[in-house]
Amino acid sequence: MSPDSFIYVADVAAVPPGTTTAFRVSGRDILICHTREEFFAVENQCSHALAKLEGGKLRAYRLICPLHGAAFDIRDGTAMGKPAVLSIRTYPLRVIDDRIEIRIEQGPAQKPGPGAAEV
Ligand code: FES
Repeated sequence: MSPDSFIYVADVAAVPPGTTTAFRVSGRDILICHTREEFFAVENQCSHALAKLEGGKLRAYRLICPLHGAAFDIRDGTAMGKPAVLSIRTYPLRVIDDRIEIRIEQGPAQKPGPGAAEV
């Protein structure tokens, strides 16, 4: 896949500031997160018990799983709080002419978070 293989997801108006919205893109469940200044794309699945992350609270760059309360940094997917210890996948995102686009990449989805060594 070329580095410029971005795929249209939605118009920016579909994800109001401070919210998240779920989309299906190229067969993957993607959650677009809109902080008040930026957009980020993460996989819409918690690394703990595989719950959907949609409906979770977004606090600045922290996304909180609605099932058991694990938190993830939406900038790089890092698990920030238990019970999750593995990161979630993130996707490169760009906004062009009010269109949100992401790039689907292959590669490892999960890496240990800061609490992984404690388990
Ligand atoms: S499924 Fe997300 S914290 Fe348990």
